Amino acid sequence: MFKRILMVMLVSCFLPVLAHAAMWSLNAGARSGGGSVQVDNATPLTVTDGIVTTYYSSNIPVTVTVRPNTGYVISQVNYNGTTIYSPTQTTYTVNGPSSQNVYAWFSLQSFGLRATVTDGTGGTVSSPSGVTGLTYGTVFSTPKVFTFTPSSSSYAVSSITGIPAEAVQNPATPLAGQSVTVTFPAGYTVTSSVALSGTFTAQIPIANAGNPQTAFMNSTVVLDGSSSVPGVSGISSYQWSQVSGPAVTLLNANSVQASFIAESPGTYSFSLTLMPGGSTSTTAVSVFDSYAVAARSQCYNCHIAASVGVTSNVFGNWSSSGHKSKGVLCARCHVGADTGGHPGRIVSGSVSPITFDFNYASAGSGNFCVTCHTPSILTDFAASKHSIRAGAASCSFCHVQGVHNPKAACTECHKIDNAYGLVWPPAGLTFHSSFTGSENVCKVCHTTHNPKVLSIKTSCP
Ligand code: HEC
Ligand code: HEC
Ligand code: HEC
Ligand code: HEC
Ligand code: HEC
Ligand code: HEC
Repeated sequence: MFKRILMVMLVSCFLPVLAHAAMWSLNAGARSGGGSVQVDNATPLTVTDGIVTTYYSSNIPVTVTVRPNTGYVISQVNYNGTTIYSPTQTTYTVNGPSSQNVYAWFSLQSFGLRATVTDGTGGTVSSPSGVTGLTYGTVFSTPKVFTFTPSSSSYAVSSITGIPAEAVQNPATPLAGQSVTVTFPAGYTVTSSVALSGTFTAQIPIANAGNPQTAFMNSTVVLDGSSSVPGVSGISSYQWSQVSGPAVTLLNANSVQASFIAESPGTYSFSLTLMPGGSTSTTAVSVFDSYAVAARSQCYNCHIAASVGVTSNVFGNWSSSGHKSKGVLCARCHVGADTGGHPGRIVSGSVSPITFDFNYASAGSGNFCVTCHTPSILTDFAASKHSIRAGAASCSFCHVQGVHNPKAACTECHKIDNAYGLVWPPAGLTFHSSFTGSENVCKVCHTTHNPKVLSIKTSCP
């Protein structure tokens, strides 16, 4: 009896199972738009297909592939009753004997445009948080612009990575200190996230083409870039080129110093470009055919105006001076007057018209003339009898017209009928009678500023 009951139980409990041993089912389907669920190699199921049940009679594993459309992501998968959010898994291998299910939901992928810089000290980028919340197929109605700005003129944008083909970098080859834009134009269609990354190169060389120059006809003008500041990696190349003015042939245009021969008067401009980085600097050269024309053009045309308040005959004095005939232009003394530092540190009263001593706040004091001329003038003069006679008048004892016409003539005093009662010619030295006029022939034999000392040792006529 017991045995029979057991049999019934066996039959009732196990027989059905055994009879359907290889029978199991799979429910699969896409539960939202934006993707599909594919069972083995069957036609992928979209949301419109609903849930599809497939029956299997054998225990051979089945592969279910969850596939988001372009621009979508899998937001969740329900796999045999368990929900997995934002899964990274796209294939599920399912098998009996219990029934199985794979349902998938999709959502639009969120894209962003972001921009970063690799080194914050070299520069910055506008709106680093960029544009977020974009989805596949978003079309820009207005352009989106990212601007990479070097922190100073010593930096240049050396590269920007991650620029998609439809976006435009401008300028393509940035110079030092130059901002660079990356523009996503109106009509740009979002298909993926974009991460721009800008790199700034530190301390590219800074070009300095030198101060403006004044030159005269047929002289060789040297353009000097040696005041340029090298970058961390030095200066790899110099490139001089002419910007304006009568065409010249530049020699050594790829060197720190270039030169040309000034063959016609005019205003010339030249630029120096340094690599790496492309820093440029320009300088001007004014070529004149006479010293007087140069001084007029540079100073006088302006200073002749009453409003400038210069009352002394500066130009007239300079015009008749040895400085003018030797090409010592106004700006040689008024340093900076022609290069933006006008009027420079020399103004009325900064140099004594009696001693020619200067007293500049920025440069102490000393003798102005010997900043260019030999300092022995001062010791010579101090040792001479002239210095005693000149007394407080010192230099202006002989240089009576002041700094703008420093000419002096020994024969102003050493002549017949002079104000000092000097005997002329000197007693016993009658050959001096032939030395007259303002030629300063005396310098040939006498040391100018200490004439007791003869400058020649040979016998005299
Ligand atoms: C040899 C050097 C030298 C040269 C060259 C020279 N100056 Fe001067 N200049 C001076 C000094 C030094 C002073 C200040 C002493 C003084 O007040 O006279 C001065 C003063 C002046 C002053 C202000 C005082 C005044 O007299 O009105 C003007 C303006 C001036 N110079 C213009 C010129 C002009 C323009 C030229 C060229 C035509 C020129 N200088 C050439 C040295 C020079
Ligand atoms: C654009 C017109 C202009 C030019 C060009 C110009 N100056 Fe002047 N300069 C002035 C004016 C205006 C003043 C008076 C106001 C001031 O001190 O800035 C002056 C003042 C000066 C003074 C100071 C005068 C004083 O009383 O101390 C000197 C020196 C001088 N100029 C020299 C020069 C020399 C040298 C040049 C040529 C290399 C030159 N300037 C070119 C307009 C000019
Ligand atoms: C900016 C530089 C400079 C300054 C400052 C200067 N000179 Fe001169 N001077 C020259 C030059 C350059 C010559 C021409 C020298 C030559 O040809 O050998 C010259 C020539 C002269 C001459 C004519 C010499 C000759 O051979 O005909 C005299 C005189 C003279 N200077 C006096 C002075 C006096 C005085 C002072 C001060 C008030 C002075 N200079 C300041 C540059 C300067
Ligand atoms: C006794 C007269 C006399 C006195 C004082 C005098 N000089 Fe001269 N100096 C001359 C003569 C003359 C010349 C030559 C001028 C020429 O060649 O045109 C001259 C020329 C110069 C020159 C042009 C360079 C040279 O050696 O020829 C300078 C600069 C100069 N003097 C500066 C001074 C200074 C600065 C003082 C005052 C410390 C001074 N002089 C005092 C007579 C004098
Ligand atoms: C401003 C007037 C003046 C000018 C310019 C002048 N001298 Fe004299 N010179 C004198 C006087 C005054 C004496 C007398 C000095 C004394 O004995 O105290 C003198 C003395 C001398 C002596 C003799 C005294 C000595 O130093 O041993 C010589 C040499 C001389 N001068 C040469 C020259 C020469 C060279 C020049 C031009 C470079 C010149 N002088 C320009 C006024 C001048
Ligand atoms: C060819 C050369 C020569 C020339 C140029 C010359 N001298 Fe002399 N001078 C001499 C000689 C040499 C002496 C004598 C020096 C001595 O005895 O120590 C002399 C002496 C003098 C003396 C007298 C010195 C004293 O101790 O009393 C004066 C002043 C003098 N010369 C002025 C001038 C003047 C001013 C000129 C220019 C106008 C001039 N000399 C040109 C050669 C020259």
